[in-house]
Amino acid sequence: MSVAVIIPAAGSGTRFGGNLPKQYMPLHEIPLIIRTVGMFASLPEIGAIIIAVSDEMKEFAETMMNEYYPKRVHFTSGGSERQISIYNALQHGALEHANTVLVHDAVRPLFTPALVRRVIDAVREHGAAIPALTPKDTIKKLTRDGFVEQTYNRAMLGSVQTPQGFDKELLLDAYREAMLDKFIGTDDASVVEYLGSPVFVVQGEEDNIKITTQRDMQLAELILKDRE
Ligand code: CTP
Ligand code: MG
Repeated sequence: MSVAVIIPAAGSGTRFGGNLPKQYMPLHEIPLIIRTVGMFASLPEIGAIIIAVSDEMKEFAETMMNEYYPKRVHFTSGGSERQISIYNALQHGALEHANTVLVHDAVRPLFTPALVRRVIDAVREHGAAIPALTPKDTIKKLTRDGFVEQTYNRAMLGSVQTPQGFDKELLLDAYREAMLDKFIGTDDASVVEYLGSPVFVVQGEEDNIKITTQRDMQLAELILKDRE
């Protein structure tokens, strides 16, 4: 049983801003992407690590990675959408011996090994698993002209994170189908859902935030200081 992880890191960080994409920015002195890769590299369950990077950042990313984890990771070309970055990574030869594939955003560095193991265990039982938290806010569906259409029962809602985990063949089938149909989902599970396959939900982690804005980076700094 081998588990591979795909780390999409080919985004340009428009909402974060700045000259260098956010995944290469330091968080508590260590670049975000290095923190994320380091977490997976330290887990004995994880085999291949494949990172999707944009062509223009390839050299930069390889140099940075070699400084911290020489020879540990494989690189693949990112695409214009996250989904295309994942699709490219799924073609990589390093996946050959994997039967489970995790997909994890480069910009979520604060997850724990317990979360990864929860996802892997659930994939082995159910074929597909994602972490989620019950939203703290009440979520409403809105009309186009700015009114409320419907209020959802919070207990039935999940705010979804990564790592998301899948049986490799299932994920490959789902991505092939989605690419043929030009279906673009907002996460990997939605691609599997498009195929009609069930996706199991496990408990996510409060600190497993996605660094989207400068404010998120400040929050991540605080979380890391708090852990010291
Ligand atoms: N990503 C990717 N390929 C893309 C777009 C995004 O690999 N074409 C990756 C990002 O690098 C990030 C993850 O997907 O690790 C989640 O994306 P997001 O937080 O939206 O990052 P960006 O797309 O870089 O940011 P923004 O949407 O603000 O431009
Ligand atoms: Mg984006």
